[in-house]
Amino acid sequence: MCGIVGIVGVTNTVPRMMEALHRLEYRGYDSAGVATLHDGDLHRCRAVGKIAALDSKLVERPVKGDIGIGHTRWATHGEAVEVNAHPHMTDKLAVVHNGIIENFASLKKELIDKGHQFEGETDTEVVARLITDYLTSGIDAKNAIFKTLKRIEGAFALAILVNDNNNTIYAARRGSPLVIGLGQTENYLGSDAIALASLSNKLIYLEEGDWAQISRDSVSVFDMTGEEVARPITYSQVSNTFADKGNYRHFMQKEIFEQPFILAQTIGKYFDQNACKITLPVEGFDFSEVSKITIIACGTSYYAAQVAKFWLEKMARIPVEVDIASEFRYRDPVYMDGGLAVFISQSGETADTLAALKHAKSAGQTILSILNAEESSMSRESDMVFPIYAGPEIGVASTKAFTCQLVVLAALAIEVAYVRGELDDNGVKTVIDNLEEVPRLISDILNNHKDIEKIAHYIAKARDILFVGRGTHSAIAMEGALKLKEISYIHAEGYAAGELKHGPIALIDENVPVIGLAPNDDLFDKTVSNLQEIMARQGKVIIISDREADAVVGGSEKLLSFKMPKACALVSPILYAVPVQLLAYYAAVEKGTDADQPRNLAKSVTVE
Ligand code: M6R
Repeated sequence: MCGIVGIVGVTNTVPRMMEALHRLEYRGYDSAGVATLHDGDLHRCRAVGKIAALDSKLVERPVKGDIGIGHTRWATHGEAVEVNAHPHMTDKLAVVHNGIIENFASLKKELIDKGHQFEGETDTEVVARLITDYLTSGIDAKNAIFKTLKRIEGAFALAILVNDNNNTIYAARRGSPLVIGLGQTENYLGSDAIALASLSNKLIYLEEGDWAQISRDSVSVFDMTGEEVARPITYSQVSNTFADKGNYRHFMQKEIFEQPFILAQTIGKYFDQNACKITLPVEGFDFSEVSKITIIACGTSYYAAQVAKFWLEKMARIPVEVDIASEFRYRDPVYMDGGLAVFISQSGETADTLAALKHAKSAGQTILSILNAEESSMSRESDMVFPIYAGPEIGVASTKAFTCQLVVLAALAIEVAYVRGELDDNGVKTVIDNLEEVPRLISDILNNHKDIEKIAHYIAKARDILFVGRGTHSAIAMEGALKLKEISYIHAEGYAAGELKHGPIALIDENVPVIGLAPNDDLFDKTVSNLQEIMARQGKVIIISDREADAVVGGSEKLLSFKMPKACALVSPILYAVPVQLLAYYAAVEKGTDADQPRNLAKSVTVE
C-alpha cells in the first residue's frame, strides 16, 4: 500500500529517495513519484506502473534537490493514472499521502467554491489545496498545516514539502504509520524502518495524532493539541541489504521452499524439546486466569486464527471467538472480564487489525499480538508480542508467515492447555515431539513438488476451483483458495466439506476441479463421503491425503492426487498448507501472472 519517503539533506536526495522507494515496493503500488525543492522551485516527476518506469523517466527528465519527498501509490480515490499519482503539487507545496481523507468531498466542494482548480480525482489533492489556501491568506506553513490537520478526517500519513525557504518537511500521522530517521547532518522520513534502512537506524516513531517539523539539523514533534512532545528514539534492527531471490525465480517460491529452515528456527524459539517445555517470549502473565480468547486478523492471518480456534478449544477447553478485523469493532462485540484478545498480523500494520486492537484495548482486554514485523504499530500498542521469526516476507502472498503463525499459535494453545490442567507433562512432551518433525515432513513435501506442478498444470486451465476440507483443514481449504485466486486470478473458493451440499454443490460439473484435503484423521470418512458426492456429479476431485487416493475415492482413472506424509492432528494443518501454496504458485507460473506482486494487491494494507 502507499509508501512515503522524505529527505531533508545536504546533497541531491533523488537517488536515495529512489532507493528507499524500491525498498517500499514490497508493499504493493501502481504508480510512483518524487518532488524536490531546488533553487527556490518545486520539481516533480511521476510515472504509472513499476518504479522502473519512474527511474526511466528521471533519466530522460532529471530532477534534483537537497530536500525532497517520494511516494508509491496504491490507488484508492481515482484510477492509477499520472494525474492521480503523488506528489500532488500547487505553486506553494508538494504533498504525499498514505490513507484516506474521509471528508474530502465536502472540503473539495468548499475549495472549488473558493476558486481552487483540481487536476485529478484523489482525496489527497484537497490536503494540498487546503494548506495552499491557508498559506495564500498569509498564515505561515506550520500553522497552515496544523489548521489543515484539524479539518481533515480519516486515517492517514502525510509528508508535506513547503516552498518557503525554511528547508523543512512536515509530517503527520493519524492511523497510518510514519517514522522519522535521524542522521548526522540530515534527517529522514519514511513509512517504515525498511524504507529508511540504508539512511538511518536511529528512529522516532510518530504516535497517533502526532505531527512533526523536520529540518536538516532539528526535529520537533507535536501532539494533536499542538504541544511539543518528546518521543523515544529506538534503534532499528532492520537489515540495510535488499532481500534477494537467490536462485529462485520468485520471492514466493523462495519463501515456500525455505519453510523447513525457517520453521525449525521458530519451533526452536517456542519449544524446548529437551526440557519438554513451551518457551514463551513473555513472563509474568498467567494464562490460566484468561476467561475467553478472542482472535482477530485479516486474510491469511485470519485463516491461521481459525486453525487456532480448533486447537485451543480442543486442547485447552477454553471458549474462543474468531473474527475478521474489518467486521469486528463494527458489530459491537461483547467482551468478558479477564479476556485475552489475540491479534495476528504478518506486517503489524494492517489498518483493520490495528483498529480492532485499539477497540479491544480500550475495552480492557489484555492484548497479545502475533507478529512478523516486530517494529510495527501493533507491537507498540500490545501488552505482549509473540514474534513469528519468519524473516522478511516479500511476496505479497503470505506463505512462510502463515506456517510460522501456526507454530506460534500451537505454542499458545499448548501453554494454555497446560496451565489449565488439560494437558500434562507427557501430553506436552508428545506434542513437542510431533512439532519437532514439522521441518523434516515439509522437506519431504517440497521434494515432491513436481507432482504438484502436474496438478497445477491441469487446474491452471480451469475457470473456477473449489477447495474443501473438514476441521482445521476447512481453514486450510479457504487459505488454499485465497492463495490461488490472489496470484493466479483463477476464481477459487474454500469450504468446509460438509457445507457443499447446502449450496456450492450446484456449481459442480466436469469443468470445476475440487481440491479435497483429506488427512486420515477422525473426520476422514466424513470428508470421503463429501468427495463422493462431488464425484457423483461429474466433479473432478484432486485428492491431497496421506491415504492412497484409491482408498479415498475408490479409484478413478481421471483422478489426480498428491500423497502427504502421515502426521498427528495438531501438525497436519501446518503440513497441508504447503501443497496448497505450491499449487497456487505453479498455477500462477503456468498462467504467466506476477506471483510476487499480483495486480490490485498490497502487502501491507494500511487503509480500512
Ligand atoms: O499483514 P497481515 O498479516 O495483517 O495481512 C493480512 C492480509 O492482508 C494478508 O494475509 C493477505 O490476505 C495476504 N496477501 C494473503 O496471502
